Amino acid sequence: MPINIAVFASGAGSNFINLFNKIASNNLNGSIVLLVSNNPNSGAVKFAKNNDICIKIINKFRYKDKATINKEYKSSLKENKINLILLAGFMKKIPVDLIKIYRNKILNIHPSLLPDYGGKGFFGMNVHHAVFNANEKISGATVHYVNKDYDRGPILIQKKVEIQNCKGPNEIAKKVLEIEHEIFPKAVQIFLNKM
Ligand code: GAR
Repeated sequence: MPINIAVFASGAGSNFINLFNKIASNNLNGSIVLLVSNNPNSGAVKFAKNNDICIKIINKFRYKDKATINKEYKSSLKENKINLILLAGFMKKIPVDLIKIYRNKILNIHPSLLPDYGGKGFFGMNVHHAVFNANEKISGATVHYVNKDYDRGPILIQKKVEIQNCKGPNEIAKKVLEIEHEIFPKAVQIFLNKM
């Protein structure tokens, strides 16, 4: 039986799109059956619509309090019989009890060499600004398991990239994103091979 995968994404969705295409073309034993997003106007949602992937929008405008939001996550994952969750640029905190239910079954991609530039406040372009301002010569990306310690779960794959010639955070982001598109599908493959 193929593993049912849910991707959680908030933004452009390049990691989601890349995962979707690679999982299909590499004949992996899994398929992305659900996109969860807080942002109905995101590139991720647009792609899911065009590719007939089930979409669940969860945000505070739709659901009035944290408890309801929490319930919605759980019920949509249950309904779609999800066994693996991929956080691909998801900018909301995952509720602790969801982490407990999906212990060792949630992977996150982070645009730095964790533990560096991880934790509170480090997400998306903030990471690249901080890396640039610190004059780092090397950055990279990390895929890790999600546990209750934010950005601190066990690392599955990490890859470095040279950034010393980058003239600003945008150039760093571009280089790091290329690495992300390489290592996230690899991490999924490693995960699926173990199932
Ligand atoms: C990616 O760089 C991802 O690593 C980052 O958001 C971007 C989403 O891009 N995630 C985080 O910062 C999570 N802490 P995408 O929408 O094009 O995949």
